[in-house]
Amino acid sequence: MGVLDLTCDDNVTTRVGNKLKGRVALVTGGTRGIGAAICRSLASQGAVIAAGYSGNDQAAGEFRDAFTQEYSTSISTHKGNVGDPGDCRRTIDDVIATHGRLDILVNNAGITIDKTVLKMSDDDWYNVLNVNLSGAFFLSQAALRHMAERGSGRIVNVSSVIGEMGNIGQANYAASKSGLFGLTKTLAREASRMLARSGKLTDPDGIGLTINTITPGFIATEMLEHIPDKVMEQILSQIPLGRLGKPEEIARVVHFLAADASSYITGQVWGVNGGMDM
Ligand SMILES: NC(=O)c1ccc[n+]([C@@H]2O[C@H](COP(=O)([O-])OP(=O)(O)OC[C@H]3O[C@@H](n4cnc5c(N)ncnc54)[C@H](OP(=O)(O)O)[C@@H]3O)[C@@H](O)[C@H]2O)c1
Repeated sequence: MGVLDLTCDDNVTTRVGNKLKGRVALVTGGTRGIGAAICRSLASQGAVIAAGYSGNDQAAGEFRDAFTQEYSTSISTHKGNVGDPGDCRRTIDDVIATHGRLDILVNNAGITIDKTVLKMSDDDWYNVLNVNLSGAFFLSQAALRHMAERGSGRIVNVSSVIGEMGNIGQANYAASKSGLFGLTKTLAREASRMLARSGKLTDPDGIGLTINTITPGFIATEMLEHIPDKVMEQILSQIPLGRLGKPEEIARVVHFLAADASSYITGQVWGVNGGMDM
């Protein structure tokens, strides 16, 4: 089996149940890679899924067909560029119009345009910042209004271990991913204050409104396909657990943070990286 084997691993797929029945989850970049695994994981507990993507209609169609065969819960797909504030607001509106509510937002869509600092163009910098960081801001802003009104919700941002460690050739990516830490903590503080002001913070039956970030290490998805073998060898040598992560291993942590019972966890950064950042 190659290091980039992309088949779904049933051993780490969450057990089937109904803990998220009635919840609606929007997962950006939800039709491929880590996002698709997150959609499956949330659906396995009964969540209705809205999966975002930017342009790959074929992958979106295939994902939707496979999902429909696998799960009884419904799914919608939403095409749009998270690097565009208007598309972010429209997507949130579309999801609420389609499903009547939005309980869980997973800001997962992300891109890389790798170049060393001296070779990086203005566009290389801004495109990555727009998609990876501004996208999470504009989607969260629109979702927060709706969630705060209802007094409950979950936002999970998908950052990266590179946001904690930096990486040669990834100044734009690393900056965008560390930017998510500050965004997460500020959103968490503001969300709690909003709930406090509306008297919903201490509701004993409430599940609260929490915002967290996860930092995956190197995960076997198409995003890593362009990495030369020699560089991959070097990467693997830096991972104490000696292998790439699986998308399902990221999905299960997102799932945990999205659960009702995780209501006392907010503003936190969760590492899932095979021990890379020790
Ligand atoms: N793979 C890793 O090793 C790794 C490690 C740490 C963190 N991460 C982070 O995890 C997240 C998912 O990564 P992945 O490896 O699963 O990526 P991937 O396989 O390349 O999939 C990316 C997904 O994001 C969507 N997307 C890309 N640009 C978009 C845009 N401008 N607007 C809306 N959607 C857009 C893509 O849509 P289309 O299908 O239409 O192109 C696709 O569904 C990213 O934020 C990435 O930075 C990944």
